[in-house]
Amino acid sequence: MKKKICILGSTGSIGQTTLQIISKNQKDFDVVLLSGNNNIKLLISQAKKFKPKYIYSNNFHFREKIKFFCKNNKIHFIDDLKLLKKAKFDITVAAISGIAGLIPTIDIIKFSKKILIANKESIICGWKFILKELKKKHCHFIPIDSEHFSIFNLIENKNINSIKNIYLTASGGPFFGKRINLKRVTPSQAVKHPNWKMGKKISVDSANLMNKVLEVIEASLIFNLPINKLKIIVHPQSLIHAIVEFKNGLSSMLYHYNDMKIPIINSLYDNFCNYKNVDKKLLSQNKLTFEEVNIKKNPSLKILKLKNVLNQNGFILISALNEILVQKFLDRKIIFTDIINKLLTILKSNLVKNYLKNHQIRHINDVFKVYNFSRSILN
Ligand SMILES: NC(=O)c1ccc[n+]([C@@H]2O[C@H](COP(=O)([O-])OP(=O)(O)OC[C@H]3O[C@@H](n4cnc5c(N)ncnc54)[C@H](OP(=O)(O)O)[C@@H]3O)[C@@H](O)[C@H]2O)c1
Repeated sequence: MKKKICILGSTGSIGQTTLQIISKNQKDFDVVLLSGNNNIKLLISQAKKFKPKYIYSNNFHFREKIKFFCKNNKIHFIDDLKLLKKAKFDITVAAISGIAGLIPTIDIIKFSKKILIANKESIICGWKFILKELKKKHCHFIPIDSEHFSIFNLIENKNINSIKNIYLTASGGPFFGKRINLKRVTPSQAVKHPNWKMGKKISVDSANLMNKVLEVIEASLIFNLPINKLKIIVHPQSLIHAIVEFKNGLSSMLYHYNDMKIPIINSLYDNFCNYKNVDKKLLSQNKLTFEEVNIKKNPSLKILKLKNVLNQNGFILISALNEILVQKFLDRKIIFTDIINKLLTILKSNLVKNYLKNHQIRHINDVFKVYNFSRSILN
């Protein structure tokens, strides 16, 4: 029987990659829900091709246009996932970018048997709430961020106490090894990643290695490991995604081509699939290099040494401030180096120390209060 699929963020990089896989395996999948935000043209063309039962969007600017399209094409338009009522998806791909993905990810769990989460900001900011919902609704979770997908596979059936360290690899981003004045970097230069084709926000995060900081936090939450067991190493070829070092002297690493199709297709098929890429032979790249990351050149990594922010409330603050700063950079309101300079200055400030002391995350609304606080500082 075909698997019923829901894609949150189908118009984005992960969403489109998922649809490319589905397009080649239509006998196995039935796309039931698609969603987008600003890229209405693409959303409509995806809907024409995959004929979903539902389109989800809460973007009020395009509401009437999508509603009109849905009405003419016998598709249910929904602006709130709770309205799905009795729908059931075999697999959901949660690929909205930024904090905007948190509520939809939590809301969709109750309708999903399995959820593949790419949206790292929702894990960083709301893991406690996501995990609670996953357990309550018996929904199976697979992380599809490539490093986390690798760790997930490498430690399957292993005792978490047997792990000594986990290394997450970083390509180094578009400016690695280049003599470049980072103060002059433009948004279009920052989003040109050498090894991966991704959305704008994650590409900027990759350019200053903030993406690795977020990934370390994401891994510590998903795998319930202390931050100091998670290390970052530079591996410019992006072929090994994670290395798990066990206490018994053995280490395992996971090799796959730098193509997000691999973690996604394997997660869709629970690793029982054929990945066909005729162009690339195993080990066609004859050099695999690893080197220590230079903290002086990558000041974002200093965040992982700021003990006072390495807690749940602090993680949200890091993610929120960074998300707002990246948008300001993309809007050309600040320069590239301002993202990390401002982030570090704010995270070290007394204002933040006091805020973290006096605020707890008890309810999902508290996450958004941290975002509002972050916005108020940066305005
Ligand atoms: N791309 C990768 O290779 C990769 C790898 C690992 C993890 N991730 C993570 O996966 C997530 C998605 O990344 P991406 O690269 O696919 O991003 P992206 O290309 O920017 O796509 C983001 C998707 O989210 C939708 N969206 C944005 N804001 C929204 C809002 N306010 N409400 C509803 N939908 C909204 C976008 O819709 P419109 O386009 O229609 O505006 C688009 O469908 C991120 O959290 C990223 O960190 C990505």
